[in-house]
Amino acid sequence: MAPEKNNPSILLLNGPNLNLLGRREPAVYGSATLAEAEERAEKAALQAGLQLECCQSNHEGTLIDCIHEAMDNHCGIVINPGAYTHTSIALRDALQSVDLPAVEVHLSNIHAREEFRRQSLLAAVCVGQVCGFGVAGYELAIRALAEHIKKRGSPGN
Ligand code: DQA
Repeated sequence: MAPEKNNPSILLLNGPNLNLLGRREPAVYGSATLAEAEERAEKAALQAGLQLECCQSNHEGTLIDCIHEAMDNHCGIVINPGAYTHTSIALRDALQSVDLPAVEVHLSNIHAREEFRRQSLLAAVCVGQVCGFGVAGYELAIRALAEHIKKRGSPGN
């Protein structure tokens, strides 16, 4: 499906080690690669009338830069912060600073895993969290974010 010229756009941001999807602990994270997950996510976004930009970085500062850049280019963020979920006040501050609606995604059910994964420092500054559904979680998050943006009224970027 070709994107409409003026469709609003959202950012799909993946954090550390998610470039290894498909090869990294497939019993936990599944066998789909990041490219496959992004392709599915883009279809879901286009169906919801949104364009999608995808970024992945293993570096906290780069993720923060992407969030800052989203301020002028996107109307929402879907983020799987990887292990930074549990440690990064800086990522939380970045999300709070740009004031864009964000949905947190985890492939695994972080609440059913080790104690240290059960706390998210980012959840409180996100609209919601999707976890435990593998790469389908990105599609679910995009649909939920699209609904949220529609209800709130899109700023049109
Ligand atoms: C993850 C869960 C995190 O605890 C972990 O550090 C990841 C992936 C997930 O998608 O399930 O890197 O965010």
